[in-house]
Amino acid sequence: MVNSKIKIFHFVILVAFFFNPSPFSAAAEAVGYGYRLRSVKADSSQKSLDALLRLVNPSAVYGADIPLLSLTASLETKDRLRVSITDANKTRWEIPNDILPRPPRRHGIPRPRLVPPSLLSSPSSDLVFTLQNTTPFGFAVRRRDGSTLFDTAPVKNQPSTYLVFKNQYLQLSSSLPPPPKSNLYGIGEHTKSSFRLQPHQTLTLWNADIGSSNVDLNLYGSHPFYMDVRPNGVTHGVLLLNSNGMDVVYSGDRITYKVIGGVLDVYFFAGPTPELVMEQYTELIGRPAPMPYWSFGFHQCKYGYKDVYEVENVVAKYAKAKIPLEVMWTDIDYMDAYKDFTLDPLNFPIDEMKKFVDQLHKNSQKYVVIVDPGISVNESYPTYKRGMQADVFIKRDSVPYLGQVWPGKTYFPDFLNPSTGEFWANEIKIFRDTLPVDGLWIDMNELSNFITSPPTPSSSLDNPPYKINNSGSNRPINEKTVPATSLHYGNLTEYNVHNLYGFLEARATHAALVKSTGKRPFVLSRSTFVGSGKYTAHWTGDNAATWKDLAYSIPSVLSSGLFGIPMVGADICGFSRDTTEELCRRWIQLGAFYPFARDHSDKGSIPQELYVWESVAASAREVLSLRYRLLPHMYTLMYEASTKGVPIARPLFFSFPADPNTYGNSVQFLLGRSVLVSPVLEQGAVTVNAYFPAGNWFNMFNHSSVVSAKQGRYVELEAPADKINVHVAGGSIVAMQGEAMTTGEARATAFRLVVAMGESGDSSGEVFLDDGESLEFASEGGKWSLVRFNGGFVGGEVVVESKVVNGDFALGKKWVIDEVTVLGVKREFSKNCDMGLGYGKFGARVEDDNNGFLRLELSKLLLPLGKEFRIQISPCLQVRAC
Ligand SMILES: *[C@@H]1O[C@H](CO)[C@@H](O)[C@H](O)[C@H]1NC(C)=O
Ligand SMILES: *[C@@H]1O[C@H](CO)[C@@H](O)[C@H](O)[C@H]1NC(C)=O
Ligand SMILES: *[C@@H]1O[C@H](CO)[C@@H](O)[C@H](O)[C@H]1NC(C)=O
Ligand SMILES: *[C@@H]1O[C@H](CO)[C@@H](O)[C@H](O)[C@H]1NC(C)=O
Ligand SMILES: *[C@@H]1O[C@H](CO)[C@@H](O)[C@H](O)[C@H]1NC(C)=O
Repeated sequence: MVNSKIKIFHFVILVAFFFNPSPFSAAAEAVGYGYRLRSVKADSSQKSLDALLRLVNPSAVYGADIPLLSLTASLETKDRLRVSITDANKTRWEIPNDILPRPPRRHGIPRPRLVPPSLLSSPSSDLVFTLQNTTPFGFAVRRRDGSTLFDTAPVKNQPSTYLVFKNQYLQLSSSLPPPPKSNLYGIGEHTKSSFRLQPHQTLTLWNADIGSSNVDLNLYGSHPFYMDVRPNGVTHGVLLLNSNGMDVVYSGDRITYKVIGGVLDVYFFAGPTPELVMEQYTELIGRPAPMPYWSFGFHQCKYGYKDVYEVENVVAKYAKAKIPLEVMWTDIDYMDAYKDFTLDPLNFPIDEMKKFVDQLHKNSQKYVVIVDPGISVNESYPTYKRGMQADVFIKRDSVPYLGQVWPGKTYFPDFLNPSTGEFWANEIKIFRDTLPVDGLWIDMNELSNFITSPPTPSSSLDNPPYKINNSGSNRPINEKTVPATSLHYGNLTEYNVHNLYGFLEARATHAALVKSTGKRPFVLSRSTFVGSGKYTAHWTGDNAATWKDLAYSIPSVLSSGLFGIPMVGADICGFSRDTTEELCRRWIQLGAFYPFARDHSDKGSIPQELYVWESVAASAREVLSLRYRLLPHMYTLMYEASTKGVPIARPLFFSFPADPNTYGNSVQFLLGRSVLVSPVLEQGAVTVNAYFPAGNWFNMFNHSSVVSAKQGRYVELEAPADKINVHVAGGSIVAMQGEAMTTGEARATAFRLVVAMGESGDSSGEVFLDDGESLEFASEGGKWSLVRFNGGFVGGEVVVESKVVNGDFALGKKWVIDEVTVLGVKREFSKNCDMGLGYGKFGARVEDDNNGFLRLELSKLLLPLGKEFRIQISPCLQVRAC
């Protein structure tokens, strides 16, 4: 029986070979037959292992197999295991080390010796690598406790599970414990209805100018990284470091990568908590760039502002409506015929523009403009001429590749060429010398092209044998971008480097701004790749003004955080289509808590500035007031992101990893560890069914309402039209300041601490402070302060105290803590006292919130933030502070 099956198999192969492999006969043939181990050798340190793999049988599907592969597994750090598989005989395309620095992969070609099963483990690491001497071969990554994280053991007679390695088709497949035993997040960029990956999906990675209003299609960025949360919250991360186009097939019990080039270079991050995975992941790919303080203010943009006077008018109307506006933006409208680094002489004349930007700066506001990569081909355009002179454009058939974008015919700078960085920086400098913009917004960098050039006949780059599911319809990879046969500096093909374009442009733009401003840059990029967070913020691209887009912005923002790009937001009120008053109101209620908060809309859309409707304006004032009061908290989260890689906006499971109810939550998020945002995402709704993990949660707007959850539970919260629910968890101390119309003014107000006591009484928090704009960030001996707060019950008193690292900076700024509000003190605390009396030089007030808790409010404290203090509050509100 078995034998006859095998014979039939061979027969099919022969048919395929002899009678021209048309798609039909190819479909009958297996994509591959896998590899077997030929030899293996571990180095003496037991930290790395090399193996040679030999092809079992050739298959012609998607091209010839590479006969001999080399596999290297190494424990690069105690928390990181790397497994690389590539052609043993030929160097293949890999992301250059200067783009993503990583340890060299040493190749000792092992002498033929086989000691299976081969193991790589080190006492210092939780990760264990095993090679299985099966035919076909497989490998597994496990924890020391035996739990399996990744297992490529082939399933018999299922070639879709085998290792396949051809020039333009690489396949790697691992089994996974089916959900809910394994919960995957990441692999983007896609707009998804669910933050947790849903089984039976093909996630395609190929950077494309596809509107983010489209669900489940490949979008602007490529991030082949996922986080896997297992029972009890034990979490690890997996990165396939590869820049080529790919499909990632997630079936629920398997993940299969189908990649059209490069090598298989897989990194495993041991965790075992989500926060540690982020720390380990960003240690490899680079920590997120620190962002200027002002970028946490509110931003306004629109495509279609017709002239500078309209833009000035928008700024004036924000002021009149008393809605904070920190940054005004302009889309391509400001340019002369859509040429980068120019101003439309008629509608955005230079003199008026200078006056406008000057006025913004006088009001401590900022100005950001868009820049597209395509340079208009026009002999009378100096930027073009300098670009040609420096020979910086991407080429095809030895001449610059001619595409078409907003200005018409364009060439595209090749950011792999070192001369391009100089060219770009020079153009930015010349422009900024004319108009001192504060940041740059780089769009269309997937690359987006309005035309599709014909493929080079017979080129398997322009027309690869395996068609990834580009745009959800297996659209050719060349469609509406730069063709894959185009060449970059060093003869690198667009085929290989396509997904890196936005990353490289962000890197060059970041460097140019550093050079031109000497300050901490603000760059906002649409296209991103692994490591882009080192240089840029991100917005989720062209969404639409629909309720679905509002809801799906949460998975998008959370995913960007996992990709190491924590400064992220979606266009508030929606980009394309016309928003409505209700949608815009709900959107600013949510958007006020995006790390990056910008209202932006399309040219044809109705105006949607926050002042357009009185009800939106009123809600905006309330939520932005809380955002601005929370600025020290958000900035401290940015500091945490830049130093540890932990996102600013986080999924609930980051703080409650052992609570499985948090795994499927796509409708709420945390700002940091403890501030829970529970928005309304449905039209007409005036309640929200919010999940509260175990603990006491205090309303951040009025401090009075409390949700107590002995165990995690859903609570139906009131959410009238003008309200969003934001709660803080017991156990945390949040540093805040006063409200203001700009971040600059807010920074001049006194600090307030919200101390939310945990069930056991303990609470903690911290605040990081610096000037908010220096290039130097949190460096040794630098100008910054870090203050840690602790609260608890000591000897029957409430105690709140601080520990200060580098107090001088805060002392120099004369920052003081004026108010401390203590929440979560049980009513019994003051049961024998008269309420509401102030003692000594401090104002002290106590209120019963009718939920079993007291709220203690201390004011007029005037404690220098840069000096350690200790506040003791006795049951009868005698307050001592020193
Ligand atoms: C391929 O590499 C292996 C291992 O280094 C070597 O033994 C073999 O001769 C090489 N084959 C070719 C065709 O270069
Ligand atoms: C080149 O730019 C000039 C100045 O903006 C414009 O008048 C002209 O039409 C452009 N030429 C082309 C070919 O686009
Ligand atoms: C390609 O994507 C579309 C849209 O998401 C989906 O409907 C289709 O099933 C996908 N095709 C494959 C082969 O996965
Ligand atoms: C790129 O290819 C061209 C033509 O094939 C060749 O002349 C040139 O030397 C190559 N350049 C580099 C840097 O490899
Ligand atoms: C506090 O705000 C919440 C949410 O808007 C509301 O349900 C609650 O009634 C408010 N409490 C008080 C005392 O105003």
